[in-house]
Amino acid sequence: MSAHSEPSYTNKQLFERACKVIPGGVNSPVRAFKSVGGTPFFVAKGKGAYLIDEEGKSYIDYIQSYGAVILGHADERITLAIEHAARLGSTFGAPTLGEVALAELIVGRAEGCDMVRLTSSGTEAAMSAVRLARAFTGREKILKFDGCYHGHSDALLVGGGSGVASLGIPDSIGIPQGAVSNTVVAPYNELPPIDDTYAAVIVEPVAANMGLVPPAPGFLEGLRKLCSENGVVLIFDEVITGFRLSAGGASRYFGVVPDMWCFGKVIGGGMPIGAFGGRRDIMELLAPIGPVYQAGTLSGNPLATSAGATVLGLLDDARYQDLAQTAERLANGLKEAIASAGIEVQVPRVSTLVGIFFGSDPVDNYADAKRSVALGLYPKFFKEMLDLGVALAPGPYEAIFPGLSHTDIEVSRTVEAAAEAAARISRLPTDSPYPGK
Ligand SMILES: Cc1ncc(COP(=O)(O)O)c(C=O)c1O
Repeated sequence: MSAHSEPSYTNKQLFERACKVIPGGVNSPVRAFKSVGGTPFFVAKGKGAYLIDEEGKSYIDYIQSYGAVILGHADERITLAIEHAARLGSTFGAPTLGEVALAELIVGRAEGCDMVRLTSSGTEAAMSAVRLARAFTGREKILKFDGCYHGHSDALLVGGGSGVASLGIPDSIGIPQGAVSNTVVAPYNELPPIDDTYAAVIVEPVAANMGLVPPAPGFLEGLRKLCSENGVVLIFDEVITGFRLSAGGASRYFGVVPDMWCFGKVIGGGMPIGAFGGRRDIMELLAPIGPVYQAGTLSGNPLATSAGATVLGLLDDARYQDLAQTAERLANGLKEAIASAGIEVQVPRVSTLVGIFFGSDPVDNYADAKRSVALGLYPKFFKEMLDLGVALAPGPYEAIFPGLSHTDIEVSRTVEAAAEAAARISRLPTDSPYPGK
């Protein structure tokens, strides 16, 4: 939005412009409104828990860059860290102190993770972790879980959640069969038949790309045991859960230590980043000390490491407790507000992460999540909430991200909006296309 009171553009005008030069008008499919209908709003700026679009409309934001800005938008401390780093030079192609400091912070908190390598995205982190696991074991087969998303690299874009799920694309075309022929997909929350032919099992310790699906009791522990027994590398993809569920991520939260981790989002304070790490004996296979090649011009970028180290430095156990309480108030409030309109809903929460599933059937895996989504209520709820000034993700398979800038005020306003949105939905005529009403 310009400094003038009148908006310079409407969202619709911007979307039309965008569609002419950017496929689908967006630079990541999850941002499209394809699965909820309508036109995306274009963000002019954000502050804390709020977004303001190019038309000047303000929203309480629960997308929070899909979890990348745990402190909220334009946090002054992060802005200063980025500004300071930028003044010293934005990228060098040579090692910096900032990379060491961030790596030390990550390794110091993720127990059992001896070394990390920084990348520029979570996709690169997961792709590289798999390559390393294959090299370490000398095996090719990997196992992932249906509805878990590990970025868009060829071998891992099978049975993916997130935007792939929203768009109803089972796989992407353009991926050669050979690239996925060694990727086995199993249902989440069931212990798969693992043997010593597998290189790796990669899992989101809390599935957060098929809505929010907590691990069933014993699932992560069972995977740990199976992998240990068969010499298989267990990879926790903590791109979402890392330094969000707790100061030590999901592995500390659940007390299960994998062999390797993938990180992203929170560790960059809103700047492009990813990281993969793990046991020293595995990580030391990486070039330049080992034979596994992996690289990146902008890996360990000074702006990203400066923002990331600042965020991690601000997050201690007390902050996670605060955030978990906010998430709890939000989850309870949403559930009560929606249920009071006679709409069946489940609002799962794991520590600081929240999800929403319409319907009453338990959701333990991707098939269950798809059944809930098929009820068709999410797009309606999304639209009403947006109208009421609350931005949820424009897809039913995404998590809800309360952050440290959401206070009781925003939570109360969100819950009030949810009650109104649910009441509006329940007033739809009985022949409405939304099942259950
Ligand atoms: C669990 C998980 N892994 C990997 C990725 C890929 O990260 P990026 O989008 O930074 O490539 C994501 C992105 O949402 C994710 O949620």
